[in-house]
Amino acid sequence: MPESVRANAPRRLAGRHFLQIPGPTNVPERVLRAIDYPTIDHRGPEFGRLGREVLEGMQAVFKTKGAVIIYPASGTGAWEAALVNTLSPGDRVLMFETGHFASLWREMAGKLGLDIDFVPGDWRSGVDPAALEARLAEDKAHKIKAVCAVHNETSTGVTSRIGDLGAAIDRVKHPALFMVDTISSLASIDYRHDEWGVDVTVGGSQKGLMLPPGLSFNAVSDKALAANKSAKSPRSYWDWGAMLAANKSGYFPYTPGTNLLYGLKEVIAMLFEEGLDNVFARHQRHAEATRRAVRGWGLEILAKNPAEYSGSLTAALMPDGHDADGLRAVILDHFDMSLGQGLGKLKGKIFRIGHLGDFNDLMLAGTLAGVEMGLSLARVPHKTGGVAAALDYLKASAQPSPK
Ligand SMILES: Cc1ncc(COP(=O)(O)O)c(C=O)c1O
Repeated sequence: MPESVRANAPRRLAGRHFLQIPGPTNVPERVLRAIDYPTIDHRGPEFGRLGREVLEGMQAVFKTKGAVIIYPASGTGAWEAALVNTLSPGDRVLMFETGHFASLWREMAGKLGLDIDFVPGDWRSGVDPAALEARLAEDKAHKIKAVCAVHNETSTGVTSRIGDLGAAIDRVKHPALFMVDTISSLASIDYRHDEWGVDVTVGGSQKGLMLPPGLSFNAVSDKALAANKSAKSPRSYWDWGAMLAANKSGYFPYTPGTNLLYGLKEVIAMLFEEGLDNVFARHQRHAEATRRAVRGWGLEILAKNPAEYSGSLTAALMPDGHDADGLRAVILDHFDMSLGQGLGKLKGKIFRIGHLGDFNDLMLAGTLAGVEMGLSLARVPHKTGGVAAALDYLKASAQPSPK
């Protein structure tokens, strides 16, 4: 090997990397094995069966009887699909500044020519159902055509109460479409598309669904399908019409992410083997243990309202004058663990611990131990005992695995 290549060769690290960012998440062996097959003809009979199976399985994950659309794209694509399939340029859309991802979705909506009413927020709270209700009650002329909310703000670890928001829209009998981003909540935090009156749900493969990045979803109500007929936003790749026509027999209008769909079939089986409610409870329990660790270190949790604590990630504020990215670098260098960085205006101010996806008690124990050792090595003022507090909670709430 030439010297220049040898000098740049990566150093082998023993053991496995801890990928504790709030997505993409660890891909379980079963899913990796499921993906690791030759790609089949996406116009052949075997694919039709696979397509029908995953489309039906995803209806159960979204808890909807309506259509689900799967794009070979990251979540950003599904955001765009939700907007261009239902709205026309100039339409007014009510959005809420819950954090970085809500701000990016707002930016996209602006570029697509929509007229955005962006309710300011402090990046520590979710969407307030009372504020939504008041805004819609004022809109007597029904100028607002859609309300968009991010269920779990991945940049802050705050979960908005989507059921309460849906109920608020119902109470004022406002005809606006309700669109929800579940990219970091689907299959981690309880979510009910039909029951909560959501018209378009946006999802992604790389978080609770335990897949690599590359698939994204729209779950679509009949009301959204009706809006699709008159929506004038230009669309081609994202057009629901062509997708739904081909999906009837399990096919796609263009090349699907075939191998990721093998993985999705396995994920759906795994989620229902564990039971969705057990999946949600596991996430809540790990989130509670993580919060006990953060408080044990004497650090502040970014989320203000306990009713909005996220089950999939926890964001911790750094003490003044200490840089979160410096801490994350120390943890990566010494313990081969990646934590989420502060995004947008939170850069350097917080670190985010992902505890979602294929995750168990001892993986969480290792994660929190890495953070506690990193806080010492990086000389961040903190108390010891965070890990011990988390372990006490895990021990007290531990259940034997089902036989
Ligand atoms: C809540 C949320 N919405 C949207 C996105 C954007 O999705 P993607 O990066 O898959 O395009 C992300 C990505 O992390 C996210 O967490």
